[in-house]
Amino acid sequence: MKYPLTGYHHITACAGGAQEDVDFFTQVMGLRMAKQTVLMDGSIPIYHLYYSNANLEPGSVMTTFPYGRKQGRQGSGQVSATAFTVAKGSLPFWKEHLKRHKVDHEPVAERFGQSFLRFKHPSGLGVEVIEDEADKREGWSTPEIGKSESPRGFHGAVLSVREVAETERFFVDALGFRKTGVEGQYHRFETGTGGANKTITLLQESERPAGSWTFGAGTFHHIALWGADQNALAEQKAIYEELGYTDASEIKDRFYFYSMYCRCPGGILVESCCNAPMSFEKDETKEELGSKLHLPPWMADRHAEILASLEPIRVPETAMAATKNPVRV
Ligand SMILES: [Fe+2]
Repeated sequence: MKYPLTGYHHITACAGGAQEDVDFFTQVMGLRMAKQTVLMDGSIPIYHLYYSNANLEPGSVMTTFPYGRKQGRQGSGQVSATAFTVAKGSLPFWKEHLKRHKVDHEPVAERFGQSFLRFKHPSGLGVEVIEDEADKREGWSTPEIGKSESPRGFHGAVLSVREVAETERFFVDALGFRKTGVEGQYHRFETGTGGANKTITLLQESERPAGSWTFGAGTFHHIALWGADQNALAEQKAIYEELGYTDASEIKDRFYFYSMYCRCPGGILVESCCNAPMSFEKDETKEELGSKLHLPPWMADRHAEILASLEPIRVPETAMAATKNPVRV
């Protein structure tokens, strides 16, 4: 059977403050600012900030809702950490870099033969950098993080589950992943060619109370897997429904892409998405990406009101495309 989703598109979390989130992802992680927009559900304006690798590739897009108004509860049935690939041998650089930014990290650990460092976003979200020799995607760079050390994109999400079997069935039967390893509490699943951007890791935490499912600071909200087009989403929805996962959502217009959601048995929300034509360049040029707030057309008449209600943010120039590729006037 051919499955329509081929890897990640984005991973979304609820941060706390907006500026601390921008500082963390652009300066500590060295991602570029790809888009500033707002959460498209509900009526209260909440930022939706997008960060990515150099080429805005699906599978490198970290997105956040800075949701300082409410604290989430971390636990099982949630993404426990997002792992970004970095070059083999670069963990000593990362240790020093994190120290400079006063970010504590756990000791270097290993999972399925790959070394990684785990640390926390200011809101408490788990983040990892994991060495991966095979990942040749192009990272962004900053004055502090060179191309050779910068994150290439996702290795994948680590999902905390109390029980593995039903989540395993979901990723294998509904999404076409195959189980490729068990190591202690970790169960690894890969799709397609496997490796970076095509790996899901389940972390079995049988006694851990469930985390919150609502928007709430310090918790991941969902992972999004990528398909080529809207047909891929329709095919995925049909697979879910045929298997009995009948709570798959309709296909929603997210302006930059189309999305369809289904919660997996372990509790983690899994989105299927595909790019809309032009995607992130729909409302700003390549050179302008990430430089200012953009609202979808149906919210455009509320621009001043929305902007006034959001925490002002300053994005480092080195995180924006125009600085890297100056436009000649
Ligand atoms: Fe999403």
